[in-house]
Amino acid sequence: MTVPLRARDPIVVDVALGERSYDIVIGRGTLPSLGQRIAALRPGARVAIVTDTTVARHHLGAAQAALTRGGIGCTVVTIPPGEASKSFAELERLCDALLAARLERRDLVIALGGGVVGDLAGFAAAVVRRGVDYVQVPTTLLAQVDSSVGGKTAIDSAHGKNLIGAFHQPILVVADTALLDTLPPREFAAGYAEVAKYGLLGDAPFFESLEANWREVFAGGAVREHAIAVSCRAKAAIVARDERETGDRALLNLGHTFGHAFEAAAGFSGRLLHGEAISLGMVLAFAFSARRGLLPQVEADRVARHLAAVGLPTHLSAIAELPDADRLMDLIAQDKKVQRGALTFILVRGIGQAFVASDVDAAEVRAFLVEKLAER
Ligand SMILES: NC(=O)c1ccc[n+]([C@@H]2O[C@H](COP(=O)([O-])OP(=O)(O)OC[C@H]3O[C@@H](n4cnc5c(N)ncnc54)[C@H](O)[C@@H]3O)[C@@H](O)[C@H]2O)c1
Ligand SMILES: [Zn+2]
Repeated sequence: MTVPLRARDPIVVDVALGERSYDIVIGRGTLPSLGQRIAALRPGARVAIVTDTTVARHHLGAAQAALTRGGIGCTVVTIPPGEASKSFAELERLCDALLAARLERRDLVIALGGGVVGDLAGFAAAVVRRGVDYVQVPTTLLAQVDSSVGGKTAIDSAHGKNLIGAFHQPILVVADTALLDTLPPREFAAGYAEVAKYGLLGDAPFFESLEANWREVFAGGAVREHAIAVSCRAKAAIVARDERETGDRALLNLGHTFGHAFEAAAGFSGRLLHGEAISLGMVLAFAFSARRGLLPQVEADRVARHLAAVGLPTHLSAIAELPDADRLMDLIAQDKKVQRGALTFILVRGIGQAFVASDVDAAEVRAFLVEKLAER
């Protein structure tokens, strides 16, 4: 299917959270409507755009023009790109800048960027003046399908990632899929791992459609918009059922228990992007489930084949200098809290059939890792 790269009516996904409900507006060319949408939601509000210097270079001008078109005055605060900005130091600098810009309770923060900007700006919005509203304008694929939706905001601590934060839902998400055209291909592929995750955890027909049409998701036409919308709908449905992750929301962690351990082992560096770690983690979650007899090995192989086809790592040999199984188990334990030798894990009974297993024997996981490490 060939689809033109043109603006059309956006797709609107509703995140149904009672009085905290909001729309995710998805489409090529939705950014220019940002000002009018904000003016309609919050007449008279002033806004502060928070962005990183890389995103600013590509897209800040268009965002400012969109606000001007809506008659909205704005200030801009930029942060350095990269995970290191999710720190107390940047949070302090950002909060001070928002106060210096005289942002008041009825004003708005706009997070223009990837997950780093979204998490930091969202957390600053949660705490400045005891909370101001914010709008997400995600500019990475990962942010459009995952981090901008659901209201988790955070910075990192020396004790681990995302350990200091708040649940703070945005009042609007505007995902302009054209903004992804400037994203480095490796970042796009990493975000795609989360797109595939939604199929793998609960929607087999979606995974099947990705197997057939992934090239068009990468190419940027209507199929991309559709895949982003399906992903947002899946996340919105889970978040609406379990906003604060007391149950079902954990399904979104498919592939993340192994994945986080690999990320930590790689020092959360550019050596292994989050989505790349999640690709490996999902392959292992399927292989581990197959080993437990929950699904046939051929189905686990099919998952690995698709992720490899799009250029994501699916084999542990992709990570240089992996630590041994004991060290990986330490990292898993730090991330997930082992309780009396048992781990909570997201396992699968097949493609699209993930479930939360709270009784996974740590020794069995360790034996599995020893085996996988030996296969390298
Ligand atoms: N809150 C949540 O629910 C949630 C969920 C998943 C991930 N996260 C967080 O998200 C973060 C990762 O987000 P990310 O992958 O978007 O990384 P990121 O924000 O670091 O962006 C990746 C890189 O791409 C650049 N970039 C962003 N948009 C661009 C564009 N349109 N064109 C060119 N370059 C662009 C950025 O400057 C950065 O260098 C992590 O900190 C993770 O913890 C949060
Ligand atoms: Zn993830």
